[in-house]
Amino acid sequence: MRKKIVAGNWKMNLLSAEAQELFSTISKEVTSSEKCDVMVFSPSLFISKLTEIKSNVKLGFQNFYPEEKGAFTGEISITQVKDSGADNVLIGHSERRAYFHEDHGFLKNKVDATLKHSVNVIFCCGEPLEEREAGNELKYVKQQLIDSLFHLNASEIVKCVIAYEPVWAIGTGKTATIEQAESMHKSIRSWIEEKYNSEIANSISILYGGSCNAANAKELFACPNVDGGLIGGAALDANSFLQIIASF
Ligand code: PGA
Repeated sequence: MRKKIVAGNWKMNLLSAEAQELFSTISKEVTSSEKCDVMVFSPSLFISKLTEIKSNVKLGFQNFYPEEKGAFTGEISITQVKDSGADNVLIGHSERRAYFHEDHGFLKNKVDATLKHSVNVIFCCGEPLEEREAGNELKYVKQQLIDSLFHLNASEIVKCVIAYEPVWAIGTGKTATIEQAESMHKSIRSWIEEKYNSEIANSISILYGGSCNAANAKELFACPNVDGGLIGGAALDANSFLQIIASF
């Protein structure tokens, strides 16, 4: 059985007290017998405070630097991530690719660093609008996976979670249709099968992200190849986030 996951990506939002309140509120409701794993990717500044709150919600970093230590002013190392107790990370989010110019090679290094240090990764992929309009979305997303993820061997790739986030749906209120989401997720699974095997393809969780909310989560999560969601805007509201979790 593939793991079902609902992960919140708080991005660069909230102040310390707000983050603690939101995390406490969610934590009071999320039980250990939830039908899915629940995760929150908080701004790194709040992580140590949040780890003090008793919770069934896992914590993670939105970003890190793929070196163990050294002269990289302003960065957080992979070993610091591991040491924090919040050993989950996002890699390849479209905002990091676009605004911070994280290219395929750098993302590959990040993936390798997480595996070396036993940190769990959600690897994000997804096409911009012009690629979808040109009918290139499958080719584009497949290349992202080939470039930064498919160099892993079988025992490594099974540790990864993939999030498909069409760039045109992120923060726009425009969600992929059920058909668009299921079709891309199915393709991603078929490429994993092609490269590895069907057992591995069937064991990797593939999350949908891009304006997933309390109103559309149930339908999206009912798709055979959608194993949960990576939630941005709707994760900043406890009720919406809890409703999304309850969609399973
Ligand atoms: P959104 O963001 O839910 O606000 O579209 C999703 C994401 O970027 O992870």
